[in-house]
Amino acid sequence: MSGGALSDWLQQGLDRASDQPLYRQLRDLLLQAAMQGRLPAGAKMPSSRVLARELGIGRNTVTEVYETLIAEGCLHGRGGSGTYVADLAGDRMPEPEVAASVESEAPPALSQRGKLLREGAGFSPHQWGAFMPGVPDVSEFPAQVWGRLLSRAWRRPPPERMTYAPPGGLLELRAAIAAHLRDARSLNCAPEQVVITTGSHQSVDLAARMLLDPGDCVWLEDPCYWGLRSGLQSLDLDLRAAPVDGEGLNCALAEHLPPPRMVIVTPSHQYPLGSVMSLARRQTLLERARRWGAVIVEDDYDSEFRYGTRPIPCLQGLDRGGRVIYVGSFSKTLFPGLRVGYLVAPPALAEALADGSAELYREGQQITQAVLADFIREGHFGAHIRRMRGLYGSRRQILRDAIEKEFGGALQASGDNAGLHLILRLPDGADDRRIAAEILAAGLSTRPLSRYFADPHTAPSGLLLGYAGVKEEAIGPAFSRLAEVLRRHLVL
Ligand SMILES: Cc1ncc(COP(=O)(O)O)c(C=O)c1O
Repeated sequence: MSGGALSDWLQQGLDRASDQPLYRQLRDLLLQAAMQGRLPAGAKMPSSRVLARELGIGRNTVTEVYETLIAEGCLHGRGGSGTYVADLAGDRMPEPEVAASVESEAPPALSQRGKLLREGAGFSPHQWGAFMPGVPDVSEFPAQVWGRLLSRAWRRPPPERMTYAPPGGLLELRAAIAAHLRDARSLNCAPEQVVITTGSHQSVDLAARMLLDPGDCVWLEDPCYWGLRSGLQSLDLDLRAAPVDGEGLNCALAEHLPPPRMVIVTPSHQYPLGSVMSLARRQTLLERARRWGAVIVEDDYDSEFRYGTRPIPCLQGLDRGGRVIYVGSFSKTLFPGLRVGYLVAPPALAEALADGSAELYREGQQITQAVLADFIREGHFGAHIRRMRGLYGSRRQILRDAIEKEFGGALQASGDNAGLHLILRLPDGADDRRIAAEILAAGLSTRPLSRYFADPHTAPSGLLLGYAGVKEEAIGPAFSRLAEVLRRHLVL
């Protein structure tokens, strides 16, 4: 392109009415010309004086643009003999016509497991309000205390706190969690066995990646939490649905399944049905796991909130063979957005799982971990749990009373000896998915029970109602609105 043709082309491209400064526009146009080959490698650029005159702009603007393009490697100056176009062959952009044809091609397709994950996705964009299951009352979180601890932690953080976390997480937090679990849940655990994660999802992902190979058999309770099922499905494992009854997972009813390499259970409060695994069943499961050579993952997601009944010792505390990985989370005790959880590994696996976590997820968040350690050690965690247990216990009773008032004995609540939700059983054949969708349209959130079963066609019908995050005075009126939807669907 000759000097005259170049300045004509630039003149057409410059938009003097635009908000973008002329300097920026000129730089972009020259870069585009060089990348598309309009300005061939080695071509001499017009002098800044000439180009400024032809374009009717200040010489300083052109000089500055040339300097920028020299710094970016698009032009180079040859010691006083002028400015030349650099060789950009390797960086050349396709002509616009070619680019357009690329755009019209089909976008990259999702993998089979990507498709499966989306088709079965259970996450909800609604996470707050009556009767969102599984959500604690985050508005009661002692934000001021946390804020004070946080600003103290930021005052002069040691540099290593701002780097990646050590394998397993900050030792102070691992020690604070171990002490809490020994006291509150009778766990056998040293700080080195605790591996900090971003929650139960990541804890189970870590355990599965470190202990299982594709195709390995995993037993999941039927019903179970969709979140863990989705994560495991993405690892190409052979997932099997193991039946659950009023005493938790029933090994005798699962005899027809292939022996598992891993079993995932919620013994303290079966999710979502709410049954508690009996001591006899716990002993059986531990004994079978020894025979199969399997590991048991004990998901103890909400056992801190127990109403009146005494807790049965957790599986980890009963385990003598080093087969149980205990999984805990601060999602229910503090708030889900914190994204901090942990696993407690058997001593023989602890270091490997901590290293695996550092390698797979490159953890950080040490300042948050330090704040959480202080929060636990200074007694705020225990005090918060005690206060919330009282609050949730009375909300649970208010919801039970509201169900009784609206439906008498016609609809039963169950599964609420612990946790943050109850199950409202619906008559067989009621379409709980459709009912839950209508309840959502009425501005309330519930989840259909059948959604948690491996086979929704044979699943019982019901609704999960979370009571923990609903203020006392709002429970009755919100349940009346829900009851209106139910009456439209049920003959009671
Ligand atoms: C059975 C079960 N486990 C664990 C969790 C919590 O997962 P996370 O710690 O990743 O938030 C939930 C949340 O609803 C759950 O229902």
